[in-house]
Amino acid sequence: MFKNKTILITGGAGFIGSHTCVELLNGGHEIVVVDNFANSKPKAIDIVQQLSGKSLKFYEGDICDANLLERIFAENDISCVIHFAGYKAVAESVAQPLMYYHNNVYGTIVLLEVMKKHGCKSMIFSSSATVYGIPETAPITEEARLGVINPYGRTKLVIEDICRDLSASDSEWCFSLLRYFNPVGAHESGKLGEDPNGIPNNLMPVIMQAASGKIAELKVFGNDYPTRDGTCIRDYIHVVDLAKGHVAALNCMKQGVEAYNLGTGNGYSVLEMIEAFGRVNNVNIPYQIASRRQGDAAECWSEPRKAERELGWKAQLGLEQMCRDAWEFVQKNKK
Ligand code: WQD
Repeated sequence: MFKNKTILITGGAGFIGSHTCVELLNGGHEIVVVDNFANSKPKAIDIVQQLSGKSLKFYEGDICDANLLERIFAENDISCVIHFAGYKAVAESVAQPLMYYHNNVYGTIVLLEVMKKHGCKSMIFSSSATVYGIPETAPITEEARLGVINPYGRTKLVIEDICRDLSASDSEWCFSLLRYFNPVGAHESGKLGEDPNGIPNNLMPVIMQAASGKIAELKVFGNDYPTRDGTCIRDYIHVVDLAKGHVAALNCMKQGVEAYNLGTGNGYSVLEMIEAFGRVNNVNIPYQIASRRQGDAAECWSEPRKAERELGWKAQLGLEQMCRDAWEFVQKNKK
């Protein structure tokens, strides 16, 4: 559908965005990237081009800047947008909700207005399993009740609702809402990986900080949940599988709005992640059991068969590969 058409990637220098750019370039797509480096680094753009052996067009800036977006659409024949740009730290969103609503929701509105003005009515949106809030059951299907428990999650749900309302008002719009579970891992080259600015909140980067001695120990947020070992269960998915899910969605865009769970369908507990990471990489991970983190669900893992049926996509890489690739990236990119 979009072969030889130009795809705009917002947030394309970020963790998932950069891996998706590699897969798009490998697949022969022409891409334009816009990123303000709020949670990424300029070197990611060079690495994406090195790894794919292809070039891309890059604009530095913010999706809230309508003039910049106008210039991008005036200078390029954009047929579809893959929209990653957004803040994603749950705790930060609780402390600074206005910053999250401005950047994530207002930024998306500006983007959609410029897209509409230029006749580009196709968007893949970087949504999240966080729109399910505290799931009632697991595994979670796309039909599960939506409900959010923090401002970050609410920005994702509001943007999904904006897409649904836009589609209802104009049937020409095509939206694919990709609900990520827990992205981890790194590109096999060890050159691209999770390289956030600031202190990470997610489990895998913290495991690696404890393994490398950057922190004295990992705090396990609660071991009294109703799960097989008392710690929370999540659906960790390799970032390269996630990236390939975006290419699959791009090749299957259709009018209307479709949500897809991008997960493996397997859940692993915090203690199982610690054990697997230590075993695969032959490292010790000092940890202690601490109190629960507010807002954590006991279990959150996907039923991913809709993406398999409709997109022809299924996660291929297992937990050991996730642990190996994540650690390889950290080892090769020590600061
Ligand atoms: C996983 C498990 C923690 C850190 C994610 C992302 C969030 C958003 C929503 C994208 C939980 C436990 C963690 C630590 C711990 N992503 N943990 N000690 O909670 O599923 O949220 O999805 O949309 O950005 O974080 O993932 O990696 O934060 O936590 O025990 O130091 O690890 O309690 O059970 P989560 P996570």
